[in-house]
Formats: sequence, C-alpha cells, structure tokens
Amino acid sequence: MAAPEGQWVLMATGRSPTNIAVIKYWGKRDEALILPVNDSISVTLDPDHLSATTTVAVSPSFPSDRMWLNGKEISLSGGRFQSCLREIRKRACEFEDEKTGIKIKKEDWEKLHVHIASYNNFPTAAGLASSAAGFACLVFTLGKLMNVKEDYGELSSIARQGSGSACRSLYGGFVKWCMGKKDDGSDSFAVQLADETHWNDLVIIIAVVSSKQKETSSTSGMRDTVETSPLLQYRAQTVVPSRVLKMEEAIKNQDFESFAKVTCADSNQFHAVCLDTSPPIFYMNDTSHRIISLVEKWNHSEGTPQVAYTFDAGPNAVLIARNRKTAALLLQKLMYYFPPQDKDLSSYLVGDKLILGDAGLHSIEDVDALPAPPEMKIPDQKFKGDVSYFICSRLGAGPKVVADENQALIDSVTGLPK
Ligand code: DP6
Repeated sequence: MAAPEGQWVLMATGRSPTNIAVIKYWGKRDEALILPVNDSISVTLDPDHLSATTTVAVSPSFPSDRMWLNGKEISLSGGRFQSCLREIRKRACEFEDEKTGIKIKKEDWEKLHVHIASYNNFPTAAGLASSAAGFACLVFTLGKLMNVKEDYGELSSIARQGSGSACRSLYGGFVKWCMGKKDDGSDSFAVQLADETHWNDLVIIIAVVSSKQKETSSTSGMRDTVETSPLLQYRAQTVVPSRVLKMEEAIKNQDFESFAKVTCADSNQFHAVCLDTSPPIFYMNDTSHRIISLVEKWNHSEGTPQVAYTFDAGPNAVLIARNRKTAALLLQKLMYYFPPQDKDLSSYLVGDKLILGDAGLHSIEDVDALPAPPEMKIPDQKFKGDVSYFICSRLGAGPKVVADENQALIDSVTGLPK
C-alpha cells in the first residue's frame, strides 16, 4: 500500500437509474440470497429524472466503513449492505496510479475501509423504487473503485443481494431478471433484452399519489404473501412464465397492444396476490383506482390500448404511453381530474416539462378550460389535491461513471461528505 504519507483518499462516483417492473417480482424462494419465485421484466427510467448518485472513497486513514444517504449518516450493519461490500471486496483487483503514487494490492482492499455518500434526485418518501437505484449504484461504483473486472451480469447478481429489484438497474432499456434454479443463486441475474434506443416512442408519466398511510415494505409484504397466499404459486408457476414470453415478443416487435395488455394484467395480478395475503395488503388507494378506470375506459373507447398502467408497492401510478401525442392527451385527462392545488404548473409536473406545451397547458387557466374526457360517464367530479405531482420521463440508460470531480459527494481531502 505504498502511498504518499498514507494520507490519500481514492474515490469514484457513479450514477444509476431506477426501474419499473412490467412483469412483477413478488416473492422469494431464498430470503438471504434474495432469490425470486419468478422471472421479472422492467423498463429502466431516464436517470436525468430518477436516479441515485453515489461516491465511494477508500483511505488508510478511515477507521471504519461509513455511509451517508441524502446527507444523513445511516448504519451499514445490515446484512444486505454487508453482502454487497463482501462480494465486491472479494473481486477487487490490484490498482496503481502513477500520477498520485497510490498502489493497492489485491489483498490490501480487504483492509481498507470505505466511506459511501449517496443521494437520490427524487424524494425518497415518494415511494419510487429508491432502493433499486441505490443498491445498483453502490455495487456499480464500488466495482469501479476496486477495479473489479466482472461483467454487468455478475454485478447485477451482487446488487440483487442488496435489493432484488436493484439487479435490473444495472442495464438501460428493457431488462429481464432471470430467476435461476440453483440454490447458490449463481444463475439469478439480470440480462438486457433491448437498449433504450430500441423503442423510443414510449413516454412515461408517473402520478405521485398523495397518501398518509404507512405502507407495508416490499420485503415484509412479499414474505407474508409467500407464507399465506394460495394464488402466488399459480401466478409464479403458471401465469408468469407464459407472460414473460409474450412480453419478450411484444418488446422485440414494438407491439404496444400486447405490451400494454400484459403490463396491466400483471400489475393487477400482483395486487390481487397482495389481497390474497393474510392479513391482506392494500397498496393502491381510491386515486390509484380512479386512474386505472380512466385509462381502461379510454383504451376501450379507442378500441386498442393507448396507455399501459402499472403500480408497485404503493399508490403511485406509472403510465406508459405509446407515443408523445398519446402522452399529451393522457396528461390533459389526468389534469382535468387531478388539477394542481396552487397556480404553479411547473412544480406540478417535473422531469420532461415540454410535455406541458405539447398538451397545450401553459397556465392554470388552460387546465381550468380543459374539456371533460368524453369517454367518462360521470365527468363532472374533480379530485384536486389527490395527486401530489406528476413526473414525465422516458426510457433511459444504465449506470455511468461520473468523471467530473466537482460532482463527487465526498471531499477528496477530508474523506467526508461535502
Ligand atoms: C413491487 O426489490 O424492493 O417493486 O428484494 O425485498 O428488497 P427486496 O424487494 P424490492 O421489491 C420490489 C417489488 C416491486 C416489483 C418489482 O420491482 O418487480
């Protein structure tokens, strides 16, 4: 570990996207290794709108491993963090930088402690898969720092041990998590089905739904489902395998009708399995149900799906529109029923704000003037305040190194968060 005075800090920074499943992962066959009962498929969201950024640092002067999330120190003692750290350290390779004189031998990585600082560019409290982006970013960035040579598939199976859905955030575009069969989990990893440029017409609108209710965590919710739901076995063994094949075909052929049908059906079955759990788990609320009804009626009136919906372990709606024109029409319908509470439209829709212009919504007056969606039977009731805000996004790329040192979250001299 020859280094100038032993006082150096070596750092790496990375950014990883979040993902949303269109075929859901729900239920583990191994709790410790995080091995699922079925395959799942997701779309990766644009990291400009939803991602985690993580800086990891090592220094001979650090007495212990430490982590800060969104500026607040959190404990690294949990088994999931420990698994990720252990698996990456095992694969660390020799590192040498002639410029700084820092040299770390393979066996020395075990003795060096890490400082980790991470932040999400979206509110953690919004209930939007923050652990997926977070663990993917931790594993990716540690891998870069420790000169790990393994491919992304191998990294995905390490991220999986942090949080199952995190393994799918190692790739952009459309991603499949293959459940695998082996007891040691070595064949349970993510593969990319197609990159983010393959089907770039799709537009994603997320309705962040207001909720005061404390939700059951995915981890404990799916444990209860595995223990008590008779439906889960049928879903995992019979329904999902054929849906995965259909979904792969739909993605390959950019067949929106099939993509939307399978996505909606799988979200609904995931929530049915939650209801089949004892005690039952309710993730969706009245607002979620209203959004489903709006989309179902519109799709029905058009004769072919315009929009797909999917809901994770919470009330937020993720809506995937077949193209930009459809997304603009969708936004008009959503804004009609869920107008903003104050006059500021630009904080009511974040991400790709250009969609507001496409929908002809330049001011609150434009929202007030929207006509009732003709396909709805009782169009007059509105639900102001039931949606906190919308995010407009698209498919995005996988993890990237952030080379600009100014964007590092750790100070290169003190080794502490900036
Ligand atoms: C509903 O990956 O958060 O979002 O593996 O216990 O950390 P753990 O669970 P997590 O579960 C995600 C469940 C889901 C569906 C999905 O993303 O596939």
